[in-house]
Parts: sequence; C-alpha cells; structure tokens
Amino acid sequence: MGTKEFGSNACLYSFPSLPQTIFLLYLSPSGGGNQTKNLSFSPFSLANPYTRNPIFKPRTTSLTLSRRRRIANLISGPLSWKMDRLDGPARLMIVSDLDHTMVDHHDPENTSLLRFNALWESLYRHDSLLVFSTGRSPTLYKQLRSEKPMLTPDITITSVGTEITYGDSMVPDEGWVNVLNQKWDRNVVLEETAKLPQLKFQSETEQRPHKVSFYVEKGHAQDVISSLSDRFEKRGLDVKIIYSGGIDLDILPQGAGKGQALAYLLKKFKEGGKPPINTLVCGDSGNDAELFSIPDVYGVMVSNAQEELLQWHAEHAKENTKIIHASNRCAAGIIEAIGHFGLGPNTSPRDSSDILVSKLDNFNPSHEVVKFYITYERWRRAEAEKSDLLIQSLKHICHLTGIAVHPSGVEHSLHECIDTFGPHYGDKQGKQFRVWLDRVFTSQIGSTSWLVKFDKWELTDDGRHCSLTTILLNSEPGNPGAFSLLHVHQTWLEGFAARCQNDWIF
Ligand code: GLC
Ligand code: MG
Repeated sequence: MGTKEFGSNACLYSFPSLPQTIFLLYLSPSGGGNQTKNLSFSPFSLANPYTRNPIFKPRTTSLTLSRRRRIANLISGPLSWKMDRLDGPARLMIVSDLDHTMVDHHDPENTSLLRFNALWESLYRHDSLLVFSTGRSPTLYKQLRSEKPMLTPDITITSVGTEITYGDSMVPDEGWVNVLNQKWDRNVVLEETAKLPQLKFQSETEQRPHKVSFYVEKGHAQDVISSLSDRFEKRGLDVKIIYSGGIDLDILPQGAGKGQALAYLLKKFKEGGKPPINTLVCGDSGNDAELFSIPDVYGVMVSNAQEELLQWHAEHAKENTKIIHASNRCAAGIIEAIGHFGLGPNTSPRDSSDILVSKLDNFNPSHEVVKFYITYERWRRAEAEKSDLLIQSLKHICHLTGIAVHPSGVEHSLHECIDTFGPHYGDKQGKQFRVWLDRVFTSQIGSTSWLVKFDKWELTDDGRHCSLTTILLNSEPGNPGAFSLLHVHQTWLEGFAARCQNDWIF
C-alpha cells in the first residue's frame, strides 16, 4: 500500500492490488479527543465511474454538510444529478439552444465553443447550471455531442421542449411527461397532417411522443400553418405549431415548447427554494422565441440569428432591455451577453496569452487546471512561445515528489512527465488537436488541499479520447497564484482510450 500526506488533514492511499482505486483519508481539524472517530474513508473508484458501492462507507460525521455534499458530488455527483447538486441557488443558469447558437456549424475549429467551455468549467461549473435546449431528438443530440467538443449540461431539454432529462445519464423528468400527456392526441395530428401534401415527414428519429415534425418550404409555410390550425381546432385539439430555420415545422402539445419547459424548470427550482439568481437564454431561430418571453430572464439572440426570430423580437419584445441581439456569432455571442448584462466574469482562460499567470483574487483550482491544459494544447500546437521558462514554470507547479498515474496504469514522477512533454513542442502543428475539460468538480479537503476531478478530452486526427482525471493539489495560503500538483490519476473512459498511448502525456 502506498500512502501520501497532503495538507494538514488528508492522506492518500493507493493499493497495488486495486490499481485503479485510490482512497482518501480525512482527519477533521476540529476533531476533539478521539481522532479515530473523525476518520472518513472515501474510495475513488476510478476504473469504473459507475461503481456505486463504496468498499468502505464514508464516515463524514465531523465534516460540514456543504463540504460533505461537495465531496459526495465529487465521488458520484456527475453521475447522479439531482436538483440539489448546488448548495444554494445557481449563480447563473444558462439555457442555450445548440445548432447555430452554442455550436457554430460554420467554424470547423470550434473556436468560440472551446472559449465558452473553458470559461464555464473554470469559473461557473461549481455554482451555476448549464441547460441545453434543442429541437433535436435525444438520438440526434447524442450524435451532435459525438461530433463537437460539447460540455455535459446539467439538464438537457430535447425535442423542442418536450423532453427534460437530468445529468449525463439523462434521467427523464416523469412529471413533465405527465403534464404533456394532458390534452394531446398524437393520432389526430397524424390524421390531419396526412391531408396536406406540402408536409414532408422528417426522419423517424425526430418523431417523438410529444412532437411530430415535418419539412415545409418557406413559400408554403404560412398557408400550411393556418390550414392546420383550422383543422386542429375543428377536431378540438389545442396544439402548438412552430416554424424554424425556414424549413422545419413542429407540432407539439400546447403546453410544450422550449419556453414552457423552462418555465416548468424555474417553477421547480423555486419550489425547492433555489431559483437561479440570474437566467440567460440563448437562441437563433423560431423555436427559441418562446425562451425570450419567460419573465425576468436575460436573453441573447446571437448575431447570426434567423430572420424569423428577429422578426418575432421586433413584433413582441422590442422594448425589453433584457434582450440583446449580439454582435458576435454563436457561443461568442453568449460570452458577449454575460459581459453585457454583468452576469459574471466573461474572460475565457483561452482569451489570454500569458496564461500561467494567475489574475484571480482567490485561489481557484478549476481555473488553474483549465489553464494548465490550455497551455498543454498550445505547446503541442506550437501556439505558445517555445521557451524553457514555460517548462520551468510547469515544473514549478509540480511537487518534487508528485506522481502521475497514466491512464495505461504506468506511473511516473510529475517532473519526468514534464521532461517528456517538453520535446513534444509543435508535434500537433497543422494537425487536428484540441483539448478541453468537462465536468470539473472541485472540493477543498483540507485547509490548503484540494481535489479536482474532471473528464479530460483530446480531439486528434486519430479520433477523440478521454480520461477521467483526479488531481490533488496544495495551495499556498495568502498567495492565490501559488499551488503545487501532488498527484494526477487518470483512467480511460470506456470506449475512449487512445490507440497510441504515448501520444497521451497527461
Ligand atoms: C431540430 C430537430 C427537428 C426540428 C428542428 C426545429 O433540427 O431535429 O426535428 O424540427 O430542430 O425545431
Ligand atoms: Mg438553433
């Protein structure tokens, strides 16, 4: 068994017989007489993120509730998302459309999406909520996620506000299903739409329990919509017809749609005593219009918004100063809106060049870790200056006795890893190479010690790879920029191991 102390009250255990598992032992500083009472053993089963049976049941009697919850979140949090993931109300809840809003299909480099990701993971993930609200079905949503470097949202609303799910495992909100089942008869929709030859069925994946979708050419849209409205009225069916992107026609229950789904969520948060402090909705097309009519939310129509949304805005929301039409496209427009409305910091770590210098007043481990991996990406893309100084400063933040466990299981000292990394300067120049972190969760486990857990992704010409990563680091009291990495532990996410393991450095 290997042990390593870090901080004044935490100790790390690793067992050669359980190579993928590390254990963390806490000693409460305020423990009183019997120290053993205050021990807690927390297993971090890194091999399989779905392991839910701790070998030792954590005994966290002396930890504060919020710290206990943070640690619990760190262990299982991203897997079992609950409405109370956060201790308090969300500082910011972003509700964003995906196609042509969060995701710019005209930018193969995904520049603004990666900028947003770095901003979110370093400065918002810990106390804010990310909600994706898309017209896509879960099938096409998952396809988009496999194509683009997207974060894992806390809540996913798919099929134009007809399906609400939580967490990475996308647990459905049954309450919402029940709401939508009222006053909805899918068969009547199918019967009436079959009578109009201008309607072309979309693919089978996009036909959902509470959504029937067609293509209609722009020129026919108005006529088709009014004819359908009459027909449904005659049949006594109250439905919502939404035209988006100058081609898509969706028919939903009247109580459905992106706006209603958001209203339902906000009500739920309010009932739980945690309405978000600020909510920002983001969109580009017709099915997003409803988002902007929810009371009290801020809204951004990205610069590339569709005519139908701009027209809706001109007719219905022109006077609302909480809505802007951004000057930037897609995710860059979202970042712009965060700044415009003063909803929080909006400088992405990707926006600065002297990235290792810390400019924050308080030590923020997520921010440091995000910056560390941006530096790593830039070094390999030859976008950072090739200087020994940079290698020295990387070494400086790695503790002399620090260890990195490579996802292959091989262990190296952190300093050895930096030595290996140096000669990789520019090895990805002119190639596809992007690095981003997802689901960054941080917990302070001692007065100066921190645990940061995240998914580290690399997109290369060889495909995309991911390791579940845990980093232990120590901060220096009174010096927000100073810290040292003590331990890096990585394990492949199933199905995403790199074929060439040497290409993955840390
Ligand atoms: C997405 C969906 C499609 C829908 C459109 C507009 O493209 O896949 O079914 O019609 O959004 O809401
Ligand atoms: Mg869109």
